Amino acid sequence: MRLLFYAAKIYDRKSFDPVLERFPGITIDYIEHELEPRTAALAEGYDAICAFVSADVGAETLAILKEKGVSVVLMRCAGYNNVDVEKAKELGITVKIVPGYSPEAVAELAMGLALAVNRRLYKAYNKVRENDYSLKGLRGVNFYHKTAGIVGTGKIGAAMARICRGFGMRVIGYDMYPNPSLDFVEYVSLDELLAQSDLISLHCPLLDSTYHMINIESIKKMKDGVILVNTSRGALVDTDELIEGIRLNKFLGVGLDVYEEETGNVYEDRSDEIMAHSVTARLLSFPNVMITSHQGFYTMEALEAIAETTLKNLTDAKAGERTGNDVA
Ligand code: NAI
Repeated sequence: MRLLFYAAKIYDRKSFDPVLERFPGITIDYIEHELEPRTAALAEGYDAICAFVSADVGAETLAILKEKGVSVVLMRCAGYNNVDVEKAKELGITVKIVPGYSPEAVAELAMGLALAVNRRLYKAYNKVRENDYSLKGLRGVNFYHKTAGIVGTGKIGAAMARICRGFGMRVIGYDMYPNPSLDFVEYVSLDELLAQSDLISLHCPLLDSTYHMINIESIKKMKDGVILVNTSRGALVDTDELIEGIRLNKFLGVGLDVYEEETGNVYEDRSDEIMAHSVTARLLSFPNVMITSHQGFYTMEALEAIAETTLKNLTDAKAGERTGNDVA
């Protein structure tokens, strides 16, 4: 089976090539081009293509892929909001995803951000490098015996809840579907979670109902000195209103792996651009904010799991097997 791998980065080859040895029936060609209508025709002669979060897998792209003989679209990620699922079904194209490849990878980054903003690790790192051993601006708080509020207690939220419990925190959660594996989590309403938590970590998906769920109204319900972490999707937070909340001195710290403006610049080097109108740049002007570039999934284990499941998905698709990973 011939697989064309779009938007390939060096780390993709490094994670897929070793796993490929366990799938002798598959060959992969890696290309740097992003999948979109202009590049879909490159898939002529391939059985399947592999794409990522930033691809355009809309109706036009799918129609070209179909015309070129592609019957399987493999998303190497959990989300598929960029895929026109109905069109794929109409064309008879199978679409498979990789759900929950490593919840701990994302949860560990969430705790890393919480610790970094609490203890100002980024500031401490730079100070000591400049021979400044003073403690000015570095005071934090203990997490031990504080309250962690987990919004969305699915796979990643559950992993974060377990980490917080390991820190000796009281853990409260908000979810429409309480997770039966989390007997130590006390479920509360969102308003109660906002009012009681010292650390709030967002782990619910981006839906119409969760868009901008963190806004100035919800921020005002939070405790003063709260830490907010978002490793889920940028648009859960209204960035302008977050800035307003930071200005009101609400937050001890804010850690973001995802932010509203990331679409279109995921994993690109934009260091030569002047981001004068960027709200992300405005956020970065605050000393208690730390932003990372959507790296929650970026661990050896998560990348290997993504490669393994993606290639297994192709084998299943070719055998005509439908699994829980099928979305079309
Ligand atoms: P999941 O589907 O296992 O869990 C999501 C949970 O959120 C479910 O329990 C669901 O009931 C709950 N939920 C839905 N609507 C809610 C609402 N309005 N309020 C509270 N809870 C609600 O998903 P998983 O695997 O835990 O992923 C969570 C999110 O993490 C994904 O949607 C994705 O946006 C993000 N993610 C981020 C990555 C990164 O690299 N930073 C990597 C992978 C996922």
